Amino acid sequence: MAGRLIIISNRIPTNEHLSGGLVVALHDALACTDAVWIGAHPDPGDNIEELEELIGSKYQKFAFRLTEEEIQNYYLGYANSVIWPLCHRRGDLVDMRSEYQSAYLKVNARIARLVATQLEPDDIIWAHDYHFLPLAAGMRELGVKNRIGFFLHIPFPALGDLSVLSKPETFAADLAQFDLIGLQTRSDVARCLEMFRADPRAEFLPDGSVKFNDRVTSVRSFPIGIDTAGFASEACHAGLPVFGRETPEEYIIGVDRLDYSKGLPNRFRAFSKYLETRPLGRKPCLVQIAPPTRQQVRAYQDITRELEEIAGHVNGTFAELDWTPVRYIHRSVPRARLARLYRQAKACLVTSLADGMNLVAKEYIAAQNPDDPGVLILSRFAGVAEDMTEALLINPYDIEDIAKAIAIAMDMPLSERKERHAASLRIVEATDVSTWSKNFLRVLKERPISVDFSRYF
Ligand code: ADP
Ligand code: G6P
Repeated sequence: MAGRLIIISNRIPTNEHLSGGLVVALHDALACTDAVWIGAHPDPGDNIEELEELIGSKYQKFAFRLTEEEIQNYYLGYANSVIWPLCHRRGDLVDMRSEYQSAYLKVNARIARLVATQLEPDDIIWAHDYHFLPLAAGMRELGVKNRIGFFLHIPFPALGDLSVLSKPETFAADLAQFDLIGLQTRSDVARCLEMFRADPRAEFLPDGSVKFNDRVTSVRSFPIGIDTAGFASEACHAGLPVFGRETPEEYIIGVDRLDYSKGLPNRFRAFSKYLETRPLGRKPCLVQIAPPTRQQVRAYQDITRELEEIAGHVNGTFAELDWTPVRYIHRSVPRARLARLYRQAKACLVTSLADGMNLVAKEYIAAQNPDDPGVLILSRFAGVAEDMTEALLINPYDIEDIAKAIAIAMDMPLSERKERHAASLRIVEATDVSTWSKNFLRVLKERPISVDFSRYF
């Protein structure tokens, strides 16, 4: 069939407990298209030269296999121990090894080949995230002329930080092979353009696109969002109490993969600081839902241990027979339940030290009762803060600042809560996930299929 949309990402959904912004957003965006989604099979395997169809979704899904060694070196290694910390300003956590880089290139070359053999001339390819930076380069080498778009879900690195890579110059060259580079925020676009500006191989064309060697690429921001109406309606669904018999009187919620970029230790410390000065008799809880992620990587084991210690310490200091201040839940929660948990929370804490967008912030706003909304406490370093300026913005490195924001949120007058919520909701609605994917695909389709430089000169 001609003219298909082919989505490629490392992670694909395998059960209904989606966690991780990419899978949640694409799952919602694809609900009403006939796209084909290709991603890594959750189990390792040796039949790596085939795509296997996975059944049981509204859209067509195919999986490629990774060997045990590739999971180690491509996924846990280069993707999550080099590119992820680099893009999240944690150069100190970068673990550079030659076997990581060669596995990353090898897997990308293989996926390029597997996809290229299936392509029809009118198919459009949309690759997602930092696992696939060299994918278009691999496809172009095979002669693929189709439009290939790329969306980076995480922050675009600062020019200086790229020097952490063994061959920083390939970062720009690989990206330039995509017809469209989609980024989360305007600041990401500024950093990407700065990278191209500093590269003697790149030239800016009058329409703002970048000519790099023999290709032209565009860089644009497309802030990702959620299925706002769907999530809001899940949130106000009646049902069994979300906590069963142990419903806390008032609580603040946090929902994050257990990642060092989410600023969880400072969040717990700030909550503890707030408890020291809270009004007498008040017994709020911090309900933190944090499913483990990438646990074979040392930095993730360290953050898991650190958080357990802090949670234990806060509870040891403040708990009473009828009150456990920190409820720390280390697993995934079905989305319908999550939506109701958000709605009943007095506040939501997003304390990312660096974050591409942060969908949790948008989910919390969408889930609120507009007549009596809770307060979003939001890190200035989350991409969502670029537009959602009416949230209670905090500096996640400053524990006192977060603690003060908690105190303000717990006692904020209804009129102010409503104003802030209404302004934030307008942002969530304007960046709905279907708008995000439609906008990206519209711009990608407008790109010329093969570059004709006579258009520019
Ligand atoms: P990231 O992409 O870095 O994980 P985001 O905040 O953008 O961060 O996206 C996280 C997504 O994963 C959200 O949709 C959130 O609801 C979901 N999620 C995170 N933790 C859980 C959990 N424990 N149970 C269910 N969903 C979760
Ligand atoms: C972030 C990344 C995604 C990734 C997700 C979950 O959202 O941008 O690419 O899928 O985290 O991480 P995981 O390593 O479990 O896929």
